Amino acid sequence: MTHDLVITGARVVSPGGVAACDIGITGGRIVTLGTGLTGAEVIDATGLIAMPGGIDSHVHIAQPSGPGVEMADDFASATRSAACGGNTTVMPFCLPEDGQSLREAVTAYHARAEGCCLTDVSFHLIVKSADPVTLGQDLPALIAQGLTSFKVFMTYQGMRLSDGEILQVMDVAREQGALTMVHAENEEAIEFLRDKAERDGRIAPVHHARTRPVPVEREATHRATTLAEVAGVPVMIVHVSNGAALDEIERARGRGVRVLAETCPQYITLTADDLDKAGFEGAKWVCSPPPRDTGEQAAIWAGLERGAFDVFSSDHCPFRFADPAGKDAPGARASFRNIPNGIPGVETRLPILFSEGVSKGRLSLETFARLTATNHARIYGLEHKGAIMIGMDADIVLWDPTLTRRISQSDLHHGADYTPWEGFEVTGWPVRTILRGHTVMENGTPVDTAPGRHVARIRPEITA
Ligand code: URP
Ligand code: ZN
Ligand code: ZN
Repeated sequence: MTHDLVITGARVVSPGGVAACDIGITGGRIVTLGTGLTGAEVIDATGLIAMPGGIDSHVHIAQPSGPGVEMADDFASATRSAACGGNTTVMPFCLPEDGQSLREAVTAYHARAEGCCLTDVSFHLIVKSADPVTLGQDLPALIAQGLTSFKVFMTYQGMRLSDGEILQVMDVAREQGALTMVHAENEEAIEFLRDKAERDGRIAPVHHARTRPVPVEREATHRATTLAEVAGVPVMIVHVSNGAALDEIERARGRGVRVLAETCPQYITLTADDLDKAGFEGAKWVCSPPPRDTGEQAAIWAGLERGAFDVFSSDHCPFRFADPAGKDAPGARASFRNIPNGIPGVETRLPILFSEGVSKGRLSLETFARLTATNHARIYGLEHKGAIMIGMDADIVLWDPTLTRRISQSDLHHGADYTPWEGFEVTGWPVRTILRGHTVMENGTPVDTAPGRHVARIRPEITA
């Protein structure tokens, strides 16, 4: 049998381990793993590592961000950036505008993503209201359409749900077989600290971090896992930033609660000191939860090494720095409260974990593949993605494990005007990204053919 495409010479990372073999691709799917394969096109990947294409299950793209504020990426730029960083699928959240229903929001997101994506996309929902239409009609209908996961917030005015509302939403998740993701920070504790800081004139960006300390995340993590226990559902705690929150997750698991955990590059590489740069510069690192300190980085690393985390995502949420529609929004210099939360990172997630994890000997290639692709597909129900196996989509990224470079804004493809990791040295870089058999990035250059499409999902297995 000859194939549409054969990749030869790579070390192939699959759920069965790492092996030297050819990958035969036909009709966008992996159809053969073996030796001596023939194809209409052959990619010689000698010296490279073939990984499953990255799946970033936590990104924000073109998300409504308040009056006058605009995210730096649309679907074209975000997925171009994602492909250049070795990703083949991203999972953005659909957030309704004020007055818009959840179903209307999803329709609007489909329109934004249509025909311009360089990676596949698969939407999560954001539930910011527990009204009868959302819970009784929109959520069940959207879950049935394959949008089988949604995020709820315990923080952010206008977005947060009360404990009772979270329980109602979790109950719908239980009935319909969807996975609830929780942003766990205690809003009232933050408000208390924020008001006090402002009264005392502590208004610089670093006070964003100081008014969202570890205990506000630890308490909310305990509460989120307890609510899941009460509702009898699994829960994903997203963007875990510190050891105390992870302890709460592991304690809940010890009680038999089905708790999944996500962490992100910012919590293993950045600290609150980054927000303490002179003047307004620290706004570049304002995100929630905030980066902590080197002790908490070590706790997150220990969690990654012992398998306490299920997924490693970017929480890509880009705003331009030198822009009144971005970090420099009206009032942002007068108080950290008004700085849009979020940092860009979809293109740098994989190189940072590869370098800090695989190249430095902390993580095996197989663990890297699980944390960056395989587990995302399994947990969220992307049936044909996340692994180099026969029958799966041919979503493959070729890595040069010897390439050492410094991350630089000038090399990235997102719509933001900075990277929080400017100058950060990494060893290991994705040199070719293949989506369902189409090359979408080669040697840092996006191939702008927009083959990406929306992928509906099956019921997450943990909800069964
Ligand atoms: O600061 C962040 N993380 N912004 C994105 C929204 C969220 O909470 O994930
Ligand atoms: Zn969040
Ligand atoms: Zn997020």
